[in-house]
Amino acid sequence: MVRRFAHSQSVADLCVTLAQCHGMDMHRAYVAGILHDICKEWDKQRLACWLKALDPDKLNEAAAIWHGYVGASYISKGLGIHDKAIRTAIYHHVVGSGSTKLAMILYISDKLDPSRGYECSSTLALCKQNLRQGYEQVKREQQEYLKKEKGIIHES
Ligand SMILES: [Fe+2]
Ligand SMILES: [Fe+2]
Repeated sequence: MVRRFAHSQSVADLCVTLAQCHGMDMHRAYVAGILHDICKEWDKQRLACWLKALDPDKLNEAAAIWHGYVGASYISKGLGIHDKAIRTAIYHHVVGSGSTKLAMILYISDKLDPSRGYECSSTLALCKQNLRQGYEQVKREQQEYLKKEKGIIHES
């Protein structure tokens, strides 16, 4: 729980930095970052229950993605935050399926979160300079990482 909060704080800070670089609303960026994993600690059953009511087709997707869909709804229904840009960014943050600037910023910040402790300075520099190109770069790196992870699982 403490680790999750530290991650969310760190993601929120990076969201603000990137929003500043690209002339966007920093407050909105902070809120998206701090709340993006609000439902990540929920158990699978609770997430499934919400998703069943929201969009049952999504239950066919990997359970690891669900907290984004449910989180977007929960901040509205549970916390009274109805900002469409924030909800959209949270909805898409797990797989990077969003195309709005805030969705790109949140996806990047989640994946490059400095508290994860790996070297990503050149990718981050690109994200600060060119949001679209940086976002595509982070997505490529993420796909490569997941491929490697799969390889490791197959080998063992
Ligand atoms: Fe997440
Ligand atoms: Fe996250």
